[in-house]
Amino acid sequence: MKYPKEYLDEIKTRLKVSTVVSKSVALKKRGKEYVGLSPFKNEKTPSFTVNDEKEFYHCFATSEHGNIFDFVMKIQNLKFGEAVKHLAQLAGMQPYIFSKQDEEREKKWREYLSIYDQYVNFYHNELLKNEAYFNARDYLKKRSLSKSEVKKFKIGYIEKNPNFFEKLKNEFSEQTLVESGLFYLDEKKKTYVERFRGRLIFPINNISGQPIALGGRIIENLDYLAKYINSPETIFFKKGSNLYNLDLARKLSNKLDHIFLVEGYMDVVGLSKNGIENVVANLGTSLTDKQILTLNQFFDDIIICFDGDESGYKAALRAAENSIKELKPEKQISFLFLPDKEDPDSYVNKNGKNYFVEFTKQSKLSIHQFIFSHYKKQTENNPSSMAIFEKKLRAIANSIKDDFIKKYVLEYFLEKIAELTPHSNQNKNKYYVKKTKSLDTTKKYFNESKSISGFELKEFSLLYLVLNNLSLLQANIHLIEDIKFFTEINRQILNTIVQKLKSEEQITVDDLNLDKQLLDKINKFAPIKHILKNKPNNENQVIELLDDISKDLFNYDLEFRIQELESKFSKDMSETTFNELKELKNERKIN
Ligand code: UTP
Ligand code: MN
Repeated sequence: MKYPKEYLDEIKTRLKVSTVVSKSVALKKRGKEYVGLSPFKNEKTPSFTVNDEKEFYHCFATSEHGNIFDFVMKIQNLKFGEAVKHLAQLAGMQPYIFSKQDEEREKKWREYLSIYDQYVNFYHNELLKNEAYFNARDYLKKRSLSKSEVKKFKIGYIEKNPNFFEKLKNEFSEQTLVESGLFYLDEKKKTYVERFRGRLIFPINNISGQPIALGGRIIENLDYLAKYINSPETIFFKKGSNLYNLDLARKLSNKLDHIFLVEGYMDVVGLSKNGIENVVANLGTSLTDKQILTLNQFFDDIIICFDGDESGYKAALRAAENSIKELKPEKQISFLFLPDKEDPDSYVNKNGKNYFVEFTKQSKLSIHQFIFSHYKKQTENNPSSMAIFEKKLRAIANSIKDDFIKKYVLEYFLEKIAELTPHSNQNKNKYYVKKTKSLDTTKKYFNESKSISGFELKEFSLLYLVLNNLSLLQANIHLIEDIKFFTEINRQILNTIVQKLKSEEQITVDDLNLDKQLLDKINKFAPIKHILKNKPNNENQVIELLDDISKDLFNYDLEFRIQELESKFSKDMSETTFNELKELKNERKIN
């Protein structure tokens, strides 16, 4: 039995050679290629190379050479059919089931491709060359599309009374032509009609770059016509399985780790025109699991960027709830919300590539952040509403297929809910009260020191205590030697003091040679001096205060590290980050 080319090609385009090879050979990136030690020979210097663009591997030591099927057959000692099964599974595809209809289907597939190929080329050339279609060209000009975009996307124009059907009829049966979805029978007039007549057409290609469907836009605003229509589903075109521009965008996956997913054809064309070519569109239907899986095969981060209106937001929410199920370790799905009335096309045309890229960096939300913030907005501050909120988030987390990710997302949601409801968690409650209290006192005492941050003031206090109790601390150096300061200059001073106290005897402040200005600043602003002012200097009290301040500083540091890790985790979703975060949060509870 022979596997259809359609099926094998799909496996090949879904799997990078480096993905397959790296399951058994450690690869390092070198320029456009990967290199590693040959799996066919014992060697110390790498002579095995992989080229994803050319879709092959080559071993300079043994002259072995081939594609992913050859590689798997060699390495795992499999027959061709077994290699296909193995790789199809790796590519997330169903195993191929052979049937008697296969040959028939193969024939139909070749005809289908040929019809689309001729159709797309014909109307593309018409748009470029036919004098009569100035209206279509004017429309494109009005939308500032140049010849190069028209060529890149093979955009075409179909006149209002086309007769390409007649030409194709010489080569294909009427039934085959109707099955392509390009034509339908007008029952009354008993004639075949071109579905996309009077429209600009955007060819939708399969992953290997062959046109298999169309999207069509009207160029005059006529209320009784839909602005866009798509090909109906056919034997070879399933909407939820395809993405507009995937064939071109996937080739960028060697260089870029993220892909934009937008709503419309024109969004893809507009972004691409502005130099953002890693973009696909999901053909006017809601996003499917299969589309997410396919994108993740090529890109680690899917950035969903729908229109900045209510329907765009709703579509994004639907996409979020649907695609979170497919979230995988090391993969991300993010959301980018544009200002109201904008779509990616209008926004990038207005602001240009750099702005758009920067805007993306600043504004994108990871999927769990988006879902959390969406449902948080719906809550009111009462127990019943909070219960519904928590239930909903738990259900969403539970829908995630990957167990690790499920656990992390659930923990993320629950932590965030706990932060919203501190009274239901005694430990946290205490912690938060303490934090605000110390900030309040700081403010009250030191209006003039507003420009100095909270932790800097703590550092000043600690230095003040140390400088005024040098001999006490020389005897108890362990109290200060591990304290972590945030401010570089304060850290240096503390370090100098600790070193001197350790190495010399009977130190005075003068021996330390400290910067005079800084000393003045410490003496002026250290909040602690107001507490010590009227009291005799009692050693126990000094040690107690020192201990308090160092604990506060530790908490600042902890909080800071937690924030950093939270933002890291929301990006990488990795198990290591999660565990680090959990440890830090436990520490926070103990303190
Ligand atoms: P939009 O209405 O947002 O169009 O539809 P757009 O992409 O901004 O296009 P222009 O700028 O007006 O040309 C977004 C997508 O929704 C689907 C199409 O896939 C379209 O690209 N759609 C829209 C339809 O299928 N039918 C319609 O009538 C409208
Ligand atoms: Mn638009």
